[in-house]
Amino acid sequence: MKAVLCHAFGPIESLTVGDVSSPAPAADEVRIRVHAAGVNFPDILIVEGKYQIRPEFPFTPGSECAGEVIEVGRDVVDLAPGDRVMAPASHGAFAEEVCAPARKAVKLPDQLDYQVAATLLLTYGTSAHALIQRADLQAGETLLVHGAAGGVGLAAVEIGKALGARVIATAGTDAKLAFARAHGADDGINYADGPFKDRVKELTGSHGADVIYDPVGGDVFDQSLRCINWNGRLLVIGFTSGTIPSAPANLPLLKGCSIVGVFWGAWVERDPAAHRGNMERLLAWQAEGVIRPHVELTVPLTGVPDALRALRNREVRGKAVVTVREH
Ligand SMILES: NC(=O)c1ccc[n+]([C@@H]2O[C@H](COP(=O)([O-])OP(=O)(O)OC[C@H]3O[C@@H](n4cnc5c(N)ncnc54)[C@H](OP(=O)(O)O)[C@@H]3O)[C@@H](O)[C@H]2O)c1
Repeated sequence: MKAVLCHAFGPIESLTVGDVSSPAPAADEVRIRVHAAGVNFPDILIVEGKYQIRPEFPFTPGSECAGEVIEVGRDVVDLAPGDRVMAPASHGAFAEEVCAPARKAVKLPDQLDYQVAATLLLTYGTSAHALIQRADLQAGETLLVHGAAGGVGLAAVEIGKALGARVIATAGTDAKLAFARAHGADDGINYADGPFKDRVKELTGSHGADVIYDPVGGDVFDQSLRCINWNGRLLVIGFTSGTIPSAPANLPLLKGCSIVGVFWGAWVERDPAAHRGNMERLLAWQAEGVIRPHVELTVPLTGVPDALRALRNREVRGKAVVTVREH
């Protein structure tokens, strides 16, 4: 089968496409014929050797897919060949076939397109877990979402609205803010224009935001701690800025707020039943049009470096998707 191959940690441009043997599922895994695979920021980090997972070479990147089960491991009882599923993988999804743990796979409704399914798992799953289980976001609260036109950010905007919050979006360009508004954001702040913390205070009657969703880190995190409400929850999602911030501990004390870590993949491992519950809620919202995942860019397997480059250059609104097999 064809697969994208990483032979050494380094630039995304060094990825190749080659022939490898089909993977064999472990007892608790399913083998999936991949139709579409979502592209995510951590895929860049894993190729560059900057992620917490460092697979043996050569390895195939790609951390989520939608496709058809073609083989099940001997202990798998609730999935069968022919089932349409979406599934996370630690890596390996940029390929014609991948193996994934059956307990993390979610069956797809018949009408759901594989391309859309490939956008739902990692970004929407992460944002749902962050806002529901970690922040306990309540209707009527104010949610500030950074990087609001990106993968996890756009998902947070839409899920925040679905949960009844008022959503303030930040992004690096006015066009991205207009896009976030078109997906439900009530207000927008361009953080390239200068410090956003004062504008957040203005928009919230000087209280600050109740929940802040931060996939950017660095200065964005530092400013967030200065515009958060009493009892606020600052969600640590990621560090696309390249800087892992250090918080002065007096600020959470003075603000009576919490800094809350979010690690979706580890949570799915620990609580697959709750993960399925979130995904069922997201699938229902998608069917009702409450959430509208956006596919900015589709590429074939040979185009994976282009998709990763576009992501790194901040050119992707919503998601890029690798189309592995036409329907
Ligand atoms: N904690 C978890 O469980 C979990 C799960 C999934 C992903 N993540 C993390 O979430 C982050 C976002 O992932 P994603 O797939 O949504 O990425 P993405 O689609 O590329 O979005 C990231 C956004 O970050 C902003 N950004 C600010 N500075 C940037 C820079 N120097 N380079 C690139 N982007 C920059 C960009 O918005 P502007 O241009 O508007 O600034 C961009 O839209 C990553 O750090 C990822 O590792 C965490």
